[in-house]
Amino acid sequence: MKKKLMVFFIIVLFTVPGFSQKFKNLALTPPMGWNSWNCFGPDINEKKVMEIADYMVKTGMRDAGYIYLVIDDGWQEGRDANGNIIVNKKKFPHGIKKVADYVHSRGLKFGIYSDAGRKTCQGLPGSRGYEFQDARTYARWGVDYLKYDWCYHGKQNSEASYKLMRDALYKAGRPIVFSICEWGTTKPWKWAGGIGHLWRTTEDIQDCWDCVNEWGGLGWTLILDKQVGLELYSGPGHWNDPDMLEVGNGGMTIEEYRAHFSMWCMLSAPLMAGNDIRKMTPEIKEILLNREAIALDQDPLGKQAIRLVDTGDYEIWGKELSKGELAVALLNRGDIPVRAKINWKWILKKLKRDGHIYKIRDIWLHKFVGKTNRVFEKKVKPHKVIVLRLMK
Ligand code: GLA
Repeated sequence: MKKKLMVFFIIVLFTVPGFSQKFKNLALTPPMGWNSWNCFGPDINEKKVMEIADYMVKTGMRDAGYIYLVIDDGWQEGRDANGNIIVNKKKFPHGIKKVADYVHSRGLKFGIYSDAGRKTCQGLPGSRGYEFQDARTYARWGVDYLKYDWCYHGKQNSEASYKLMRDALYKAGRPIVFSICEWGTTKPWKWAGGIGHLWRTTEDIQDCWDCVNEWGGLGWTLILDKQVGLELYSGPGHWNDPDMLEVGNGGMTIEEYRAHFSMWCMLSAPLMAGNDIRKMTPEIKEILLNREAIALDQDPLGKQAIRLVDTGDYEIWGKELSKGELAVALLNRGDIPVRAKINWKWILKKLKRDGHIYKIRDIWLHKFVGKTNRVFEKKVKPHKVIVLRLMK
């Protein structure tokens, strides 16, 4: 009888309006921030995190919308006799709360990483079996964002595992953005909408145009291909996540980084910078801080772009924006220049806006370059993108 009452109580608790309500409006536009993994790997510590927080303010990233500072794998060490997670004292001598408080004091939000399996991908303690305890710890530390990985999951069911942590976060009571990092293996876009705010759709991104590494890491254009068809599942509060940005990590040219960033904005992808922003060049800064590009990503309609034309090397992508506006990206993936001639009539029809005439704004040149009732011809250099906002 006691047990039945308990189950009833738990069910009521989770269905009380307001309980999950706190989590509902956390990611109405794709989350933006910075994550330690792509530039530092597990080599992360208190000093670096605090400096990054300072630079997020100093460089203007915070004010451009990059709000979450997320520590990825590598901060944990073990568990004590009571199962509490132990923080690596060499890396974080004053504990995580101290860092979280500092991050908050800079007007940012703080995020952390764990894993649904027994261990993280770095072989450190995962949250399996400790979900409610860890969620309570995160809430106590002032965590605002949890990236939750999928290493060492054994025979665990993905949906059940992520639901369990979601419920643990609900129970802990602090509003926390829940970032599902299951790499697309069990098609999270089909089940994760009510569980997390974003879900990874693919293997890990690499700092390259189209490479594939031995354990499945992918260059960004190959990740881009895997987003085609997933547009149905993305929208305010629940985003496809093609992984964090590599912009500025040194493996690509400026034009290639501009293309990578532009296409992430076209996709309404979460924008988690992954470079060492303490050492950002002006060119990289100009990319990450292009407010016209960010505005496409953060458009409140939250529509992921669709690929309208695919000729192998040359592609045209289209995105619906709020207030009947549109964005169009011309992407040259090949090695020779393409002479792009746009058939606006056809494109507008595809994007359900036929009959409308728009002003065309190039969001990288920051100027108006024509109107959709006239011919638009442009050379697109290899590995370059042109992004046009069609405005009323
Ligand atoms: C996985 C994730 C990465 C990163 C590492 C950390 O590979 O997909 O984004 O979090 O683990 O070990």
